[in-house]
Amino acid sequence: MASKFRRENGLDYTAGDIVVANGAKQIIFNALMATLEDGDEAILPAPYFVSYPEMVKLLGGVPVVAECPEEDGFRLKPDVLEKAITPRTKWLFLNMPGNPSGAVYSEPELKALGAVLAKHPQVLVLSDEIYEHILFDGRAFVSFGKACPELKDRTLIVNGVSKSYAMTGWRVGYAAGPAPLVKAMSTIQSQSVTSVSSIMQAATVAALNGPQDDVARFREAFERRRNLVVDGIRQVNGLTLPPPEGAFYAYIGCSSLIGRKTPKGVVLEDDTAVATYLLNEGRVASVPGVAYGLSPYFRISTATSDEVLSEAIRRIKAAVADVE
Ligand SMILES: Cc1ncc(COP(=O)(O)O)c(C=O)c1O
Repeated sequence: MASKFRRENGLDYTAGDIVVANGAKQIIFNALMATLEDGDEAILPAPYFVSYPEMVKLLGGVPVVAECPEEDGFRLKPDVLEKAITPRTKWLFLNMPGNPSGAVYSEPELKALGAVLAKHPQVLVLSDEIYEHILFDGRAFVSFGKACPELKDRTLIVNGVSKSYAMTGWRVGYAAGPAPLVKAMSTIQSQSVTSVSSIMQAATVAALNGPQDDVARFREAFERRRNLVVDGIRQVNGLTLPPPEGAFYAYIGCSSLIGRKTPKGVVLEDDTAVATYLLNEGRVASVPGVAYGLSPYFRISTATSDEVLSEAIRRIKAAVADVE
């Protein structure tokens, strides 16, 4: 894994700075368990991955939502970060490309966040980079660790094989960070589940160090599907979708549907009502924006075939056209 970080991210870590767990989720859970005291705050730029606030709460922390609206490209701005930081802030979560928005940060944008963080030495940074290889329009990935090397002693870079290698079921995640934090996370890991199974470890080494042709092939397929979904949703009156810059989701804006009525007379009061309507009447599964901390949106996944996506868009279009 040290060679992966060096080769792909230009980061220098040794084995003692790296921990492996049963998925990026367990990595994040262990990091929070190792660090959070009751009442400690974790800043979550919204829209965020659904598990972040749940893990923070479960471990006694307080999620502090920092809204990153569509007009800011769903990215955290330095002034929004500055306002969210308090003496109780323990963590800032970053996720790029983001689930659900697909937002990616440029190196100057990361450096600007780093400049704010430099003033607040109590804040640790969790950079969830699990979608790093699923990037569109020729973008190159810049790890937070590469952009802000001066924060290395309080940055945890989180990654895993679930997304880049389509190995979700293998349950392997890993992270690199300051040795004392990594040691505490390893102790939690060791006293709870011991380790990641040796079979999964061998498969992960093969994925990370073997031929990478499939990663490029997957990326191309996801970009094609991103285009298919963006083109399709743009033709649906009442929905908006800025092209996702990475990852495999579409976070679709539905503000103009709110307050309107379905053919059965149900008022679409919020994005949960929209997602419920799409499921029950349109037969399309989506997740409402409220789950990600930013409404009104719904998220669909593009990790499925072009045919299924085309059919989903057809159904969404028909269901939305029926709203009065
Ligand atoms: C942003 C983000 N981080 C972490 C995970 C979980 O990864 P893993 O399968 O390695 O636990 C996901 C999965 O949906 C995700 O979207």
